[in-house]
Amino acid sequence: MSRLRVAVLISGRGSNMTALIDAMKAASAPAEIVVVISNRPDAAGLVRARNADVPTAIVDHKPYGKDRAAFEEALTSELKARDVEFICLAGFMRLFTPQFVTHWYGRMLNVHPSLLPLFKGLDPHGQALAAGVKLSGATVHFVTPETDAGPILVQGAVPIQAADTPESLAARVLTVEHRIYPLALRLVAEGRVRIAGDRCEIDDARAGGSFLISPEA
Ligand code: GAR
Repeated sequence: MSRLRVAVLISGRGSNMTALIDAMKAASAPAEIVVVISNRPDAAGLVRARNADVPTAIVDHKPYGKDRAAFEEALTSELKARDVEFICLAGFMRLFTPQFVTHWYGRMLNVHPSLLPLFKGLDPHGQALAAGVKLSGATVHFVTPETDAGPILVQGAVPIQAADTPESLAARVLTVEHRIYPLALRLVAEGRVRIAGDRCEIDDARAGGSFLISPEA
């Protein structure tokens, strides 16, 4: 079976990108990261990708100013040049036009560091701490024109500790992201995921094993 050709789009350090690359390194993996594209020339993730022998490209958004469509045209030529079939956003901090998102609908995933639909948008960890929730986590979902709102594919939860800061919570949630993003991509690449309206249906999947209760007395 041919492997799903995936582009990972980053803006920063690229730790989720690294988790995806590592998970799909084996020739027997169902997907292959064929290119890493950054909108920031100085993204640390670009170095990590090169060290892992994955081709990289830079499509700097700055020269395009507010012209998102022109930026996306440049991005699309990079995607076409590598015959990309599927996109994983991994800390990619640019919004797309509805046209771009609609074109890739069902073929583009994002990871967001909260248990969606809670705490969309910026500073999800600060939002979680302010709300006083006792559990948080991360979500991998399909991308729709509405930010952080598409069909949910995989979620992972972590406890929130009384002394948490946005930074300490972010670090705990990140370890979950590194588990669930490769899993989500594998499910898609194995052809086990169907989008049914606003929801994902997943073949042969079972719920995770245990309860997570926080705080413990
Ligand atoms: C991750 O925590 C990801 O969930 C978040 O940015 C971080 C990127 O880290 N993405 C968003 O907040 C998107 N709304 P990474 O570059 O090390 O993968």
